Amino acid sequence: MGRTLRLVVMASGRGSNFSAIADAIREGALDAKIAALICDRPKAAVIDRALTYGDIDIAVLTRKGFATRADYDRALAELAAGYDPDIIALAGFMRVLGPEFVGRFPGRVVNIHPALLPSFPGLDAQKQALEYGVKVSGCTVHFVDEGTDTGPIILQEAVPVLEGDDEDSLSARILEKEHSLYIKALRLIGEGRVGIEGRKTRVDEKRE
Ligand code: GAR
Repeated sequence: MGRTLRLVVMASGRGSNFSAIADAIREGALDAKIAALICDRPKAAVIDRALTYGDIDIAVLTRKGFATRADYDRALAELAAGYDPDIIALAGFMRVLGPEFVGRFPGRVVNIHPALLPSFPGLDAQKQALEYGVKVSGCTVHFVDEGTDTGPIILQEAVPVLEGDDEDSLSARILEKEHSLYIKALRLIGEGRVGIEGRKTRVDEKRE
């Protein structure tokens, strides 16, 4: 078991999860290669981050010019497939991908979400958690299915909500956990230690 995992990372914004993955690869903590970053926003900071690594292809594909979301998703899928990825890792990719995309890569698209799913799916998860008043939130790495943040969960990590937390402070503490959790999940996948069984996963963490 275990081979270099070929990744396409898809991101829309700041790119700290992208950098965490790229840094882990560079430091030898993750046996993977980022074949490409695909971004839907031409001015996203993640593009500048990707440029600093020197060996990562960067592709920008905006929704503009596509008549329907399905057309756009098909084009995104075609673009991603061109890099021949084992896994497509969504890292703050702020669009829901429809069946035209997800159906092309069954069991091969993963996402990181800043809440303990199934609580607080969708946008502004940290804000949703604060407004609800939960005492514990966290982050989830999961496979992507055709719903919004509904696919089989791979790993989760809890983060306590502290007295006086605001969206920024909670998000920052969750983000720190996101980075390590995402790398751990990708490592487990690359080592063949994650299986999908219906709506659940079986994760063999014994040798972690
Ligand atoms: C992260 O907190 C990620 O979990 C979240 O966007 C942020 C991206 O930060 N994703 C979602 O909310 C997806 N629904 P980053 O660009 O610094 O990695």
